[in-house]
Amino acid sequence: MVESRVEFGDCRDLMRKLKPASIRLAITSPPYNLKKNYGLYADNVHIEEWKNLIDGTMKEVHRVLTNDGSFFLNVSPVPDDKTKEIIPLDSIAWELGKKNGFYLRNKIVWHFNNMQNCVNRLSGRWEAVLWFVKDIDNYVFNLKDIKIPCITKNDKRFDANAGRNPTDVWYFDRVNNMTKKKMGLECHPCIYPAQMIERIIKMSSDKGDWVLDPFLGSGTTSVVAKKLNRNSVGFEIDKKFEHLIRKRLSIETLQTILA
Ligand SMILES: C[S@@+](CC[C@H](N)C(=O)[O-])C[C@H]1O[C@@H](n2cnc3c(N)ncnc32)[C@H](O)[C@@H]1O
Repeated sequence: MVESRVEFGDCRDLMRKLKPASIRLAITSPPYNLKKNYGLYADNVHIEEWKNLIDGTMKEVHRVLTNDGSFFLNVSPVPDDKTKEIIPLDSIAWELGKKNGFYLRNKIVWHFNNMQNCVNRLSGRWEAVLWFVKDIDNYVFNLKDIKIPCITKNDKRFDANAGRNPTDVWYFDRVNNMTKKKMGLECHPCIYPAQMIERIIKMSSDKGDWVLDPFLGSGTTSVVAKKLNRNSVGFEIDKKFEHLIRKRLSIETLQTILA
């Protein structure tokens, strides 16, 4: 039986309570400064304040990760509220990662199609998932658990049944309003796809490991961790999401057991 710990408050304070080197994998998607209506958190802060939030979070994530641990940070380029210029949050986050002692193992491009069209610039169809490691020579990478079907079935040089590396460009549909409605998740504005988190957890942790999400939101990371027999600890500033998180942790796990 695995544990799924959920606590409410500022993740930078709550992470201080975790022991050093106690977490194998951290995955998160912080607020992007996109004026999303989260509730308690104001999603339109000055970029320097956003950097402070990510910097402070990374410092603690680095401390609590095991030496072979990984940190996956999902961020995207966003338009500045006033100037409309695109701010590459992934580049900013990379610099903060370096400052905090991380090495970038891959910049994964998460590609999707279900998003609105722009009329004055090219429509955005990707977000970044930065895969940081603490030690570039020693980290968990369970490639065999995340292989995808081979493209060519008739090439004798490859064993078609063995599957192939999923590469650094991933396609997963975004969780849009229709999906949220179907799953009863409308009360959270920004949810990442469980299938993408499933790939990350399988790839970078083992059963029984601890997985951390400092910006838990609706609880996706913890729900998937539980399904895959990993312990989890998730922090969320807004208690408004507690009911949703706990409901997902019980119902979606039950659905997995019954499936
Ligand atoms: C993009 S959402 C995460 C969504 C999540 N990945 C999911 O699938 O549901 C970011 C979350 O961070 C929370 N948040 C903002 N600042 C925080 C902080 N300092 N500590 C903890 N949570 C915070 C917001 O309330 C919001 O729910």
